[in-house]
Amino acid sequence: MPAVIASAPGKIILFGEHAVVYARPAIAIPVHQVRAKATISATPTSQSGEVRIIAPDIQLDARLDDLPADQPLVLAVRGVVAHLGITRLPALTLRVSSSIPIAAGLGSGAAVSIAVIRALAAFLGHTLSNEQVSSLAFTVEQRLHGIPSGIDNTVITYAQPIYFQRGQPFQTLQASTPLTFIIADTGIHSPTAQTVMDVRTAWAAQPEVYEKLFDAVGQIARQARFALENGAPEELGNLMKENHALLQQIGVSCPELDHLVRTAHAAGAYGAKLSGGGRGGNMIALVSAENAETVMNVLLASGAKSAISTSLQPLEQD
Ligand code: PMV
Repeated sequence: MPAVIASAPGKIILFGEHAVVYARPAIAIPVHQVRAKATISATPTSQSGEVRIIAPDIQLDARLDDLPADQPLVLAVRGVVAHLGITRLPALTLRVSSSIPIAAGLGSGAAVSIAVIRALAAFLGHTLSNEQVSSLAFTVEQRLHGIPSGIDNTVITYAQPIYFQRGQPFQTLQASTPLTFIIADTGIHSPTAQTVMDVRTAWAAQPEVYEKLFDAVGQIARQARFALENGAPEELGNLMKENHALLQQIGVSCPELDHLVRTAHAAGAYGAKLSGGGRGGNMIALVSAENAETVMNVLLASGAKSAISTSLQPLEQD
């Protein structure tokens, strides 16, 4: 049997992280320049039920049965097996690789889960709908993060720009003008589960303050959707600045992110903000196509550990 391969893109949150956990709207886009890949091949020489998982990025080479039950790859595999009602897997090897930086706000965890879920289902002769894939990936995120909003698994499964509000059907978005973004990494690993829990603690201590902050972020996401769909990069940039200021008040920025955000503004970006869980990971800057290289180089010269450019094209969605 030939190997089965599935892959999934990274993602970046343009507006609304953290507030989205509290049912405010948010906007996210796929980042196709980075991807997670899962390859499954049969290992006929092994006994049925023998599943080997190889993930060099996290120095993993082990039998499924020897791994902890809450290991993310184990959760993804077992989720598919339970969903399909399979009692015993054929002997197989699952290889996972990813160019998406880990714990950096680019959705590496969700992308790996989605690639694994798709590859395993296909290997077992099933085609899952996007809705099923997204829901299985959400279950993995829940076991890992406790209270994920669902934005990561949704944007990565559908690989489209989305306007997302918890508890409501998501909507795909179409930019009316090409938009160029620079994504720059502080190099600081910051697990999303930690910042999400810290925000939960702060919210529980000061609910009125945090509800107001989340309302303000939600309002920005609504305005941003309008600006995105009506071709106003300057306005989008200003909204990113406002969103970053609110994320600072929410308590999820850090000096390194603030420094890169200021640097991007000084280099002529329309706007910049942290993206994702915060306290490290990536920031994102909206730039003109002409200024993209300059902003990227200035960010790299000012402490960013790596940077990529991505764009949103009006035709990305049919
Ligand atoms: O996975 P990250 O780091 O891009 O963060 C996800 C966004 C949060 O709003 C912080 C959490 C969530 O589940 O929505």
